[in-house]
Amino acid sequence: MPELNDTHGRKHRSLRISVVDKCDLRCTYCMPEDQHFLKREELMTREEILTIARLFVDRYGVSKIRLTGGEPLLRPDAVGIVRDMVALGVSIGLTTNALTLHKHLDGLIDAGLKGINISLDTFDAERFQRITRRDGFDTVWRNIRLALERGLRVKVNMVVMRGVNDDELLRFVELTRDHPVHVRFIEFMPFAGNHWGRERVYTYAEMLGHIGSVHSFEKLSDDPHSTAKAYRVPGWSGTFAVISTVTEPFCGSCDRLRLTAEGKMRNCLFAREESDLLSALRRGEDIAPLIEANVLAKHAMLGGLPQFKPEKQEEVLHDLSERPMVSIGG
Ligand code: 5AD
Ligand code: SF4
Repeated sequence: MPELNDTHGRKHRSLRISVVDKCDLRCTYCMPEDQHFLKREELMTREEILTIARLFVDRYGVSKIRLTGGEPLLRPDAVGIVRDMVALGVSIGLTTNALTLHKHLDGLIDAGLKGINISLDTFDAERFQRITRRDGFDTVWRNIRLALERGLRVKVNMVVMRGVNDDELLRFVELTRDHPVHVRFIEFMPFAGNHWGRERVYTYAEMLGHIGSVHSFEKLSDDPHSTAKAYRVPGWSGTFAVISTVTEPFCGSCDRLRLTAEGKMRNCLFAREESDLLSALRRGEDIAPLIEANVLAKHAMLGGLPQFKPEKQEEVLHDLSERPMVSIGG
């Protein structure tokens, strides 16, 4: 089987598919205020998603698929897409804001979903409103507990921003005392229109220092391609991890590829170039050469951006892809 290797010796086995670019929250770190959304006919159909995903799995040995958005559950056929992906026989994940999860939970579980990643940045309802520009804290928190009760593996993603929610780290760690959740603290990353500044990044080192001042914790072993560095407070039910993209990027072990909701392939979260798989597919062309060329063009680190050091901030902001996070897919 041909493999999706790049010129830096990395083998790619994981694909994230954004199924819709819209969202029912508008997180400040993800979606610009004036965001425009794709028209329905521009989105990949359920069949097109399956055709492309099947090629990645059957031809190139991709073994992990994650469905993202925007908010994937906004698609009326979201559960059907999960069902299709499960039938491919690979590991399937779903990243959601959980705002409508209660309506889809039975369907998702019946479709074969085993684990879910839920975004939650605060336990304060007003602060939730400020960060997401929508109400919803109570619903999301209720749905996290519901997913746990139903036996799903639950990861909670918190984007930590200095002066916004960095005072809630311990509250999130304490969630792991009695709940079997895996909390992931994500360094605030730069994307188009998200008001990033290096000084707004609450760093991996700061997070561990802050948590360590109150709790002793132990390091857990990480999967070789994991982006997260995992820890546990001994004896507690859950675990926590840090995703240190900004201060300690993990590009050397990256095995991820991405597909946007309009079928454009990206070899990195920070990529500036894309390959239009969907248009080629709709013209009836073979998309395999596009996929292989896209992987070969992958930069060694951060999509070719300079490292996210304070002295490089202007350069980073200048060179960012024009695509905001909401339309890349988390
Ligand atoms: N920095 C870090 N993480 C982000 N996400 C979205 N935007 C950013 C950003 N600027 C994460 C959210 C969500 C996932 C879809 O992507 O936490 O869980
Ligand atoms: Fe929506 Fe998730 Fe982006 Fe927030 S982070 S706007 S919930 S896609």
